[in-house]
Amino acid sequence: MAKHTVVTMPGDGIGNQVLPEALRILKAVSFDAEYIHADIGWEIWRNEGNALPQRTIDLLTKHKLGLFGAITSKPNKAAQAELKPELQGKGLVYYSPIVTMRQKFDLDICMRPCVGFIGNPLNYIRKRVDGGFDEPLIDTTVFRQGTEGMYAGIEWTNPPENVRAALSSHPKFKAFANVPGADLAASVRIITRPAARRIVKAAFEYATKRGFKGVTICEKPNVVRETSGMMEETAKEVAKDYPGIALWSTNIDAQLMWLNKNPEDYNVIVASNLFGDILSDAFAGLVGGLGFAASGNIGDKVAVFEPTHGSAPKYAELDPPIVNPIAMILSAVMMLEYIGETEKGKRIRDAIALVVKEGKVRTYDMKRISGGAKSISQGAASTIQMTDAILTKLK
Ligand code: NAI
Ligand code: MG
Repeated sequence: MAKHTVVTMPGDGIGNQVLPEALRILKAVSFDAEYIHADIGWEIWRNEGNALPQRTIDLLTKHKLGLFGAITSKPNKAAQAELKPELQGKGLVYYSPIVTMRQKFDLDICMRPCVGFIGNPLNYIRKRVDGGFDEPLIDTTVFRQGTEGMYAGIEWTNPPENVRAALSSHPKFKAFANVPGADLAASVRIITRPAARRIVKAAFEYATKRGFKGVTICEKPNVVRETSGMMEETAKEVAKDYPGIALWSTNIDAQLMWLNKNPEDYNVIVASNLFGDILSDAFAGLVGGLGFAASGNIGDKVAVFEPTHGSAPKYAELDPPIVNPIAMILSAVMMLEYIGETEKGKRIRDAIALVVKEGKVRTYDMKRISGGAKSISQGAASTIQMTDAILTKLK
């Protein structure tokens, strides 16, 4: 029997192209695992009216470890229109399976490393006053709260009477009191202290492990007083348990400006759900973009690792596939680190670093050319060639 069982959920589009590449790499480092396929995503929604079927939930509950590719998500109207005819008009509602998965398994620690590889032509570069250029090595990990905040899903257009009544009990609602229901939308941003504590603690634990001297809490407590306020207040409390590590506080707007000035100063950033989502995409852009952005969704019992990118439908049908598999492979590395297979993880990371540094094999994104079938004839490596290059560097 294999030592580990991994539930593999390639999902839609390029998820099906990159996930098998990660498995090739895991095999090459002799990761002792059995893989069990599980259905998820748009095709499952169309055929079954549920993008995250119970059988997939059962597999994750049982095996506790998942590798996920990407899914396609579309707005409600399209979701209804694309349901197979027998399922239409039955009141089925589309929910993003990844958001549902995070909430169902309480995968509240969303960890998103944005770490530059030397020699990546997509790395952040800064012009110096003397006319020269700096390319500081960026090593930032965003800890994004994964289950609450703006993504809690508690929202209405035309809120029901009792909700409206509750809103009216707040003096600030006077300004909206005369807005007709159909013209009023409200999304509730919920933060709970225990969840805030967990995400901040995860960030401090990581900073301790990596030997970083500070953790930045990035919110907006001067305006969003209650929810951002609770995030910041909790961070201050948790920080007391880590006397060797400083707690810095930034506002989300200012932080996005600073990441264009001195991104190398931020090694660990913690934020609520939406702000963490924004921050992690922004930082990912400084180290190569979606082709390099990996993530882990970690709960007490279950953990699921996935690239940050989506299903990129426009490239999903290309043969050979052209997208960069590195984000998916790095997600598999995060999985290895999570279960304590750090040596195997390091071997893979080192192999990727060598391929990037050598610069001979580059997918279209790394060559800054447009994607599409033509990119291969313009010298871009295919998805498979990139994996092959990494395989040859594995020691
Ligand atoms: P996307 O991430 O799928 O693609 C955006 C663009 O980024 C692509 O067109 C491509 O140019 C580039 N890209 C993405 N992954 C790449 C890779 N591995 N290598 C090279 N280039 C890459 O985002 P988009 O187009 O906004 O959304 C497409 C679908 O994916 C939507 O249905 C969306 O809802 C869904 N989505 C799913 C996510 C998930 O599964 N976690 C996350 C983001 C979007
Ligand atoms: Mg995002």
